[in-house]
Amino acid sequence: MLPVASLLIAVLISTSFCAESTKWSNVTGTSNTVFPTDVGNLGDTAPGLAPMTAQDDTLNSTEFVKGYGIDMRSKPLGGNESTDIYGNFGPYTTWRPAESLFPETNPYRSMPPSCQLRQVHILHRHGARYPTDGMDDGPGLFGAMVKNGTRNGTFHATGDLAFLNHLNYTIGQALLVHQGAQELFDSGVKHYYEYGRLLSNMTTKPVIRTTSSSRVLDSSRYWTLGFFGWDANERMNLEVLTEAKGQNNTLEPKYACPNGKKFAFGDQMRKEWQKVYLKDALKRWQKNIHGLNLTIEDMFNIIQVCPYETAGMGFSKFCSLFTKEEWEGFEYDGDLKFQGNSGFMSPMGRAMGIGYVQEFLARVSNHTITNATSQNTTLDRNETYFPLDQRLYADFTHDSAIVNILTAFNLTQIGDHLKATKPNKNRRFRASAIVPFGARVAFEVLECAKGEESTPFIRIKINDAVVPLNEGQGCRQSHDGLCSLSDFKKQLQDSIKASHFDLACFGKNGTDFSVTSPVSQGQLSNAQIHTNQTA
Ligand SMILES: *[C@@H]1O[C@H](CO)[C@@H](O)[C@H](O)[C@H]1NC(C)=O
Ligand SMILES: *[C@@H]1O[C@H](CO)[C@@H](O)[C@H](O)[C@H]1NC(C)=O
Ligand SMILES: *[C@@H]1O[C@H](CO)[C@@H](O)[C@H](O)[C@H]1NC(C)=O
Ligand SMILES: *[C@@H]1O[C@H](CO)[C@@H](O)[C@H](O)[C@H]1NC(C)=O
Ligand SMILES: *[C@@H]1O[C@H](CO)[C@@H](O)[C@H](O)[C@H]1NC(C)=O
Ligand SMILES: *[C@@H]1O[C@H](CO)[C@@H](O)[C@H](O)[C@H]1NC(C)=O
Ligand SMILES: *[C@@H]1O[C@H](CO)[C@@H](O)[C@H](O)[C@H]1NC(C)=O
Ligand SMILES: *[C@@H]1O[C@H](CO)[C@@H](O)[C@H](O)[C@H]1NC(C)=O
Ligand SMILES: *[C@@H]1O[C@H](CO)[C@@H](O)[C@H](O)[C@H]1NC(C)=O
Ligand SMILES: *[C@@H]1O[C@H](CO)[C@@H](O)[C@H](O)[C@H]1NC(C)=O
Ligand SMILES: *[C@@H]1O[C@H](CO)[C@@H](O)[C@H](O)[C@H]1NC(C)=O
Ligand SMILES: *[C@@H]1O[C@H](CO)[C@@H](O)[C@H](O)[C@H]1NC(C)=O
Repeated sequence: MLPVASLLIAVLISTSFCAESTKWSNVTGTSNTVFPTDVGNLGDTAPGLAPMTAQDDTLNSTEFVKGYGIDMRSKPLGGNESTDIYGNFGPYTTWRPAESLFPETNPYRSMPPSCQLRQVHILHRHGARYPTDGMDDGPGLFGAMVKNGTRNGTFHATGDLAFLNHLNYTIGQALLVHQGAQELFDSGVKHYYEYGRLLSNMTTKPVIRTTSSSRVLDSSRYWTLGFFGWDANERMNLEVLTEAKGQNNTLEPKYACPNGKKFAFGDQMRKEWQKVYLKDALKRWQKNIHGLNLTIEDMFNIIQVCPYETAGMGFSKFCSLFTKEEWEGFEYDGDLKFQGNSGFMSPMGRAMGIGYVQEFLARVSNHTITNATSQNTTLDRNETYFPLDQRLYADFTHDSAIVNILTAFNLTQIGDHLKATKPNKNRRFRASAIVPFGARVAFEVLECAKGEESTPFIRIKINDAVVPLNEGQGCRQSHDGLCSLSDFKKQLQDSIKASHFDLACFGKNGTDFSVTSPVSQGQLSNAQIHTNQTA
């Protein structure tokens, strides 16, 4: 069978899952209640060809990066031995601690001795995955163009790019890959060491939540194996929240907030930026490509092959075909996308993330959610499915939802206003540091002795970097990254109001509000809201 045809069949088979009705099951056989587990809605997925780096890795180097099965050694075009590009992959960066995100708090990584850890809320992104697009967009589109062009004899590559004449694009679609499984297992182990004792006195099994998307669901499974052990399913209840039209879900709020993804200012900005940082690469590549006139969009599809092939196949020849400066441009591309589509530059950013903020408030306050937004209240108003007395919570989600949620927490520390034409080298908002593969945010609730009394504090870590909480989060006094929990909660109430959830999510642009360009607070401003609005 022709390779393209066989891949297409694989795609057809694996995408034929259709939305099934929710199945609630007794996962462990020891539970006294049933949980939504087998809910369907895995999303479109396709397997890829299995890797074989023993044959495909052509680097003559014995360098081995500890802990990685995949290549982390390739150097950029014109780079020297010490140039690293693997931290420039934006949201496709392999997990690493965000060491330079908040250097000012590096001295405060360990908890003050006067404090005791009371509770932790972990928000986690899935690990490394295949591209979400199939063969009709993204890197797969370039793969298909080369395959078809080679077959019909119109495409020919020379020089450094001659390997394209034999390219057999075999990367799958949207599934968690082995590197991603490792990231999540490792994270589960690490979190066990960090927080395991919080669960020592639990009398009921903790509820761990995940969305139904295949890569997210599988990520939660690997994490729980790392955290709880091989019999994880007997030690917790995994609750799967459906990602589908008509379903409310705080970990994938796009269906509960229909306007949420309509104002994609990030996509507009990155298209501008691609014309700048991929201009030279386009000229360089075109010299060795015949029978195909490359566009800037093609170049963007091409540069993405490197991180995806590395994650899926363990090695990629594409990594060394771009300069360090181009990789830095690629990194900024991801920053524009997330800040503009989901963060402080999106008018719906806060509204999309506010549902999780309300859940956080419910969990730290032991209160049922009243004015619901994107929650599935059938689950969230039932303590079996949304317990309020757990000491460790873990929720598995996507990159965009994490950026929405950090915006709703009003973490203005990462609220940089970004320009489409030129990166600010000092920006804090970097997708590589905030939402790499396997990203995690930990909200730690501490009790700290202050004289005779003991009062609750909050501390937030983004990929291990302690956020320097400040007045933006309502903290009247802040030091060591700690903030009084009551100050912090007060500010979250303001954020709930400022999100204008109903208006932002269901209003009509032009009638209820007017938005034409990126915003700076992740919300509709008063000037943008029409006073006679109907929503
Ligand atoms: C779950 O399974 C166990 C063992 O089969 C059974 O004893 C228990 O009643 C079941 N619980 C429910 C809610 O079905
Ligand atoms: C591989 O590298 C070693 C030195 O590290 C060198 O001696 C050898 O010639 C290289 N082989 C090839 C095929 O380049
Ligand atoms: C490649 O060929 C397949 C099969 O003929 C076709 O479905 C697909 O659209 C083509 N893709 C491109 C990018 O030309
Ligand atoms: C050959 O394949 C390329 C890539 O899919 C396509 O753009 C082109 O039209 C095809 N040419 C012929 C003569 O079939
Ligand atoms: C190309 O990849 C497909 C799987 O996607 C595989 O079946 C086929 O053997 C590969 N062809 C070559 C020439 O390696
Ligand atoms: C667990 O309970 C025991 C006895 O009530 C108590 O001494 C201990 O501090 C508790 N452990 C934790 C981690 O809360
Ligand atoms: C709430 O969750 C349950 C369990 O998955 C599901 O059956 C129901 O359709 C959901 N409702 C909404 C509005 O999301
Ligand atoms: C590429 O562009 C050149 C100049 O505009 C044109 O002559 C040529 O036909 C184009 N080639 C393809 C394959 O579209
Ligand atoms: C939470 O509130 C319920 C009553 O609403 C109470 O029974 C329970 O003890 C409280 N839990 C904690 C940890 O305060
Ligand atoms: C719920 O909304 C109503 C009306 O906007 C408001 O008065 C009330 O304070 C809100 N309750 C909470 C707990 O936020
Ligand atoms: C889902 O969200 C909508 C819009 O906020 C709300 O009207 C509806 O009651 C919610 N459904 C459930 C089951 O929570
Ligand atoms: C909560 O869920 C449990 C288990 O499914 C069920 O028995 C109980 O009736 C529910 N409680 C409410 C208030 O809906």
